[in-house]
Amino acid sequence: MVAEWVLGQANKRGDAEYTVVDIAEYNLPLFDEPIPPRMSRYQGEHTKAWATVIDRYDAFVFVTPEYNHSISAALKNAIDYLFREWQHKAAGFVSYGADKGVRAVEHLRQIVGELAMADVRAKVALSLRSDFENFSDFKPRDHHMPLLDAMLDEVVLWGEALKLVRETHRFNPMGQPIEKMAPISDAGSGPSNTAPDLIRSAIEIADRWNAALAAGDIDTLTTLYDPEVILESPAVYMLDTLFPGTMHGIKEVRAFLNAVIQQVPLPLTSRRPPPLADGRLFMWEFRARTAGGDSRDFVEVMELRNNLIFQHRFYWGWRGISSLSKVGTKGSSSR
Ligand SMILES: Cc1cc2nc3c(=O)[nH]c(=O)nc-3n(C[C@H](O)[C@H](O)[C@H](O)COP(=O)(O)O)c2cc1C
Repeated sequence: MVAEWVLGQANKRGDAEYTVVDIAEYNLPLFDEPIPPRMSRYQGEHTKAWATVIDRYDAFVFVTPEYNHSISAALKNAIDYLFREWQHKAAGFVSYGADKGVRAVEHLRQIVGELAMADVRAKVALSLRSDFENFSDFKPRDHHMPLLDAMLDEVVLWGEALKLVRETHRFNPMGQPIEKMAPISDAGSGPSNTAPDLIRSAIEIADRWNAALAAGDIDTLTTLYDPEVILESPAVYMLDTLFPGTMHGIKEVRAFLNAVIQQVPLPLTSRRPPPLADGRLFMWEFRARTAGGDSRDFVEVMELRNNLIFQHRFYWGWRGISSLSKVGTKGSSSR
């Protein structure tokens, strides 16, 4: 009831996508994970399902009743199940109860602080006496509206800002930042020792390659390569089929790219800076976002022969490499 009201008001704003996550639908038993959630090694199917849901969102508005001056046991239990999925996300609050539930929210602030969430100041506190007719029919008084808006303003603002924190830092299991992605500098307008038409054709080939990969168009991709192409990419580790670390010849490269199209979550296309070039090799350093919202750094090197890609190599930054460690070492052998 209260959550549906919050959702209805939030949806009128048009500034973010809002949805209700009802913990009752996830049937979480009393916390039963053997390993502390900070380690992100969830065992239970119910935990994994719950983690997948919470992982999707950038910010949360907790709608909570108050029971004996705190939040409900069910909400505490659901929160306790996870860590990384809450971490570095924004939290706002709407409470209700005989005494408006303000103490439940104060408790909740302590809890989300431990999960490295950022709790916003504005809140909505609804009274069972004045905002529910006969203590049951929800009829919120008008003065709650600006408070709800103020709270959502802050939640959206911080939710947006914290995306950057999650994308650019790596954290240890205690939630402390241990590594920061280096900024990618603008490569400028291109090098001076390579003819502009060569650079233009390299950019065009790279653009056509991106578009063909995104469209899953293996035939067009293949036409961009020299028949004797050599291709290297750590994506071999993500594939079910065994590919050599270095692929030789158009047949092997086509099979590899086909497998990539079928099996690897592709980064969304990103704008590349102009390439660095020495007249023969072209090199791009760029950051691409995956569908899951993760940022990955890539260095891509191409050597062209007769306007076709003759050498093609990809180097991934630590964010991309860490995604390989999740899938294991399924598909590599070296040559
Ligand atoms: C055991 C119990 C303890 C409660 N303690 C408080 C309280 O400390 N403060 C408050 O504002 N309301 C308190 N209430 C009232 C509840 O917040 C209220 O009944 C609320 O509607 C319960 O929400 P729910 O039915 O969505 O779980 C309490 C209710 C129960 C049953």
